[in-house]
Amino acid sequence: MDKILGDHRKQIGNFEIIDWVDEGELARLRDKLDVDAPVSLHWTWEYGSEVEELRNLYEKGKHGQWNAAQDVDWSQPVSKDDWVLNPEASMLANLTKMMGRDEATQKAAAFDELAFTVSQLLHGEQAALQLCGQLTNVCDKLDQKFYAASQVADEARHVEVFARFLSEKMGTIYPIGGTLKILLEMLLQAEGMAKKTLGMQTLFEGMAVGIMDLMRQECRNPLFSDILARVQGDESRHAAFGVLTMRRVVAEASPEEMAEMEDWSYNILEALNANQQMDMLKIFGPKYGIDPAMVTQMVTSLPNFAELNSMIYTHTVVPNLRNLGLITERTEQHWRDKGMIADRKPGEQKFQLNLA
Ligand SMILES: [Fe+2]
Ligand SMILES: [Fe+2]
Repeated sequence: MDKILGDHRKQIGNFEIIDWVDEGELARLRDKLDVDAPVSLHWTWEYGSEVEELRNLYEKGKHGQWNAAQDVDWSQPVSKDDWVLNPEASMLANLTKMMGRDEATQKAAAFDELAFTVSQLLHGEQAALQLCGQLTNVCDKLDQKFYAASQVADEARHVEVFARFLSEKMGTIYPIGGTLKILLEMLLQAEGMAKKTLGMQTLFEGMAVGIMDLMRQECRNPLFSDILARVQGDESRHAAFGVLTMRRVVAEASPEEMAEMEDWSYNILEALNANQQMDMLKIFGPKYGIDPAMVTQMVTSLPNFAELNSMIYTHTVVPNLRNLGLITERTEQHWRDKGMIADRKPGEQKFQLNLA
């Protein structure tokens, strides 16, 4: 399989990134709202439970429901004048500090960066909502359909809660990154339950859980902490569905099918990794006097780049792929070469980007 977005790649130092140079192309991509995503619909006449573990997950989902409008205390403030996350966790806060800018500017930069990151999570939640709707069609067992339906409600709530947090508390929803849109559409257009589940529940949700958990560890704001904890509680059920379903898929897969899933997983996450915050840096670069290419070169050539960069992967998605046998001797080195797997001492899981 060719590299995803091969013609959008360019070399910055030793690192190959995906860069959307043509703003017009990016705008057209975002404007394209209708996407052909035919799904095969499967009826079932088996109305009893056939897959006990999925029925249990559906039951857990019913108990785990919460109301984003009523259960979250929206009166709690979020301010640009406070650190929402610890300053060390923000690339822009580190950069502006290094440049000798005052603390108010560092806080404003961190706030902008967070609003951008949460916006991307929000767009991902919308994709999850649409994909789970598809799963209610393509899955063949009733327990799977029930479970997928419960996840649809969860994802609707996540869209609701992040959209409200951004618009009411942070003031802006930033547009989706070009690479993210392309990758999410690949999942929405992928055929069959196996690829959709591998793509969304294992790869994207695994990544999102990594990002959310690391943000929660660094979070100083009670409202944002509460939202992250609630969303993560739901996401753990979603990840469980991914693992349970993929275990069955993997058990029945031929060596060729395994190799295809290994490469597909790697290629999708490699493309996501090749983005390296370039979208975010391009939006805020002019405001804070930052050159995106220079920053990318600096970050990707840090001696501990792999250690820092791999955290969101090694948190959940890489261990899950390993358990499923989808990272093998054949492919592991590729992950390492891109800084997506690095060895870390036990307990050393601190999300800190120290550029100084
Ligand atoms: Fe979600
Ligand atoms: Fe989810």
